[in-house]
Amino acid sequence: MPADYFEPVHGRNEIEFPQLEMVRDHLEEIPAIDLPEGYSIRTFQEADEQAWAGIMTEAFNIYWNLERFRRLVRPHFAFRPERLFFLCNGGIPVGSAMAFQWPGISRRTGFIYMLAIKRAHCGKALGRSLTLACLHRFREEPIFQDAMLHTESFRLPAIKHYLRLGFKPRLIVEKHRETWKTILHRIEMPELIQEFGIENAPVLPSWHLGIRLARIASYSYWLSIRPLLSF
Ligand SMILES: CC(C)(COP(=O)(O)OP(=O)(O)OC[C@H]1O[C@@H](n2cnc3c(N)ncnc32)[C@H](O)[C@@H]1OP(=O)(O)O)[C@@H](O)C(=O)NCCC(=O)NCCS
Repeated sequence: MPADYFEPVHGRNEIEFPQLEMVRDHLEEIPAIDLPEGYSIRTFQEADEQAWAGIMTEAFNIYWNLERFRRLVRPHFAFRPERLFFLCNGGIPVGSAMAFQWPGISRRTGFIYMLAIKRAHCGKALGRSLTLACLHRFREEPIFQDAMLHTESFRLPAIKHYLRLGFKPRLIVEKHRETWKTILHRIEMPELIQEFGIENAPVLPSWHLGIRLARIASYSYWLSIRPLLSF
């Protein structure tokens, strides 16, 4: 496994505090995409690798660079040019999101991955449009039946979009219960605490977390040995 795989992100790592999980248990009632003037969404073209890295490095951290795109994204079993979206302004990519699948999770579950927009273009709900592009993609591919994603408690703008688009929290560990209550207050949606039954929602059994870690580790290991193989 690459040594930097579990790098701390804002003090969190996947073992001490697993990412929050959100699920949308169907692909019905997906709203149309409504973009402000000057913006468009298109799918991946060969010349986009560097643009993707630039967007991700700014929005996340330095680990999400061109090298990681080539090592983790391009060889991913779920990568298809038509599943990687770019939000463009005046034809220049300023945001991106991927309609993906995740190792160890049912192939029927679409995984929304690496949603990010350059800071200068934030504040216009464009993250909603990119998320919608992924959901429509899932809907167009018969294999997909539902959708999920991982996120973190400080990603409030993203979480607000996901909730409005029908994603619901799933508790992976007990401490996620308090985290979700805090989040829903901070984004001024406290009514969802009751609507989702956060107080009494079950926490997934601990083996679920073990499997989640194992599948990331095994996939990561597979990627690290793949260049040594002849296929
Ligand atoms: C996620 C992201 C693409 C969303 O950008 P965006 O679409 O421009 O989001 P907006 O700025 O329009 O914010 C969406 C909502 O969150 C609200 N919001 C933003 N920051 C907030 C904060 N700190 N506290 C509470 N609410 C906040 C906004 O007011 C808006 O609510 P409204 O629609 O009721 O007005 C962008 O924030 C980003 O690239 N973040 C870094 C990468 C990231 O976190 N990706 C998500 C990975 S899961």
